[in-house]
Amino acid sequence: MAPLSDASTAEPDPLDVAAIKADFPLLTARQERGHPIVFLDSAASSQKPRQVLDAMTAYYEAHNANVHRGAYQLAEEATDALEGARDKVARFIGAASSREVIFTRNATESINLVAQTWGRQHLHAGDAVVLSQLEHHSNIVPWQIMAQQNGFEVRWIGLTKDGQLDLSNLDQLLEGAKLLALSAASNVLGTLTPVRRLADAAHAVGAKVLIDACQYVPHHQCDVSTLGADFVAFSAHKMCGPTGIGALWGVEAILEEMPPFLGGGSMILNVTLEGFTTAALPQKFEAGTPAIAEAVGFGAAVDYLLAIGMDRILAHEQALTAYAFRRLAERYGEDLHILGSSEPGQRCGLATFVYKDVHPHDLSQVLDEQGVCVRAGHHCAKPLMKSLGVAAAARASWYLYNDRSDIDALVDAIGAADALFDW
Ligand code: ALA
Repeated sequence: MAPLSDASTAEPDPLDVAAIKADFPLLTARQERGHPIVFLDSAASSQKPRQVLDAMTAYYEAHNANVHRGAYQLAEEATDALEGARDKVARFIGAASSREVIFTRNATESINLVAQTWGRQHLHAGDAVVLSQLEHHSNIVPWQIMAQQNGFEVRWIGLTKDGQLDLSNLDQLLEGAKLLALSAASNVLGTLTPVRRLADAAHAVGAKVLIDACQYVPHHQCDVSTLGADFVAFSAHKMCGPTGIGALWGVEAILEEMPPFLGGGSMILNVTLEGFTTAALPQKFEAGTPAIAEAVGFGAAVDYLLAIGMDRILAHEQALTAYAFRRLAERYGEDLHILGSSEPGQRCGLATFVYKDVHPHDLSQVLDEQGVCVRAGHHCAKPLMKSLGVAAAARASWYLYNDRSDIDALVDAIGAADALFDW
């Protein structure tokens, strides 16, 4: 692996990580096999600050009731809590209106919602959907399911050797396409894709654009008004919020025209023996009792990140990425291969790597012995791993609560594998 320029080494950290870490009970109170926990798996799910946990507890202790139903004070408070959280999420991503923010269970459900509604309606035999080879299964399988039902073609944007999108045949791929569905940041390679450029190219041929922003929204200031997409999917649990809630943002006029997803309570205006009419946005897509406390936690997570500042979070992560790449290269050289680009500025804050011929699951267990948590396996991106010729890899991913000591712990812990495997 080529060593990286690490101009940021001498710069002060834009974040006070010690103060941030103190907000996260699990990171301060929990020990793992006698070691303080070194959590480097935030690309899978982030830890939660006290502020989020407290907001959810306060909701349950003082305001809990069902929403959009009861004409009593408590029910109104619960409704205000849910809708207040929606307003926060909408502002966080620059949505024109809270009506454009649909609460879902997670980004996966957001993408399935679009596939099963807009996709079912608009994608038929003779049509094409364009995906990239670096997509997570969440942005592949929903389209494959719908393609099996409706018989449209799925086309693939390939990758260059350094893990960027190969756009050499983009015009050909987009010809006659009805949808481009693309990840803004790869959960394996860390690649940041040129969303705006591709969205403009897709729109120029009349295609709609869906962005899987799961690995992007938690780390970047995301403004959907300039991103150029028609749909954006993301999850709360990767951005300091709870599990069980995510969001789909969509252009209001497109959401208005889409048929509903799940049927049931809350999503109707009227029901008769003959049929139903749908509620206005966003309730049209939110059948059943929503994840109210989780929405409150989602809103609190947004408040938490904004109070720190998305620009500072990104600058911190980029500096940490440069530091991690430099330390790993210095210590392990060619023995450790990081997948994707070696330019920290072109990546999000993660490194997916193969160390010698140690199986990533074994390596992950060795790291766990030192309290270091990383993900190992195919990272829910099997087509990508196959195209890279790598069956499995370990992945370390960092966030606002990680600092250089966490990277140092990772670097030291990898070496412990040498003691266990006979080279
Ligand atoms: N998409 C998550 C990951 O990459 C779960 O780990």
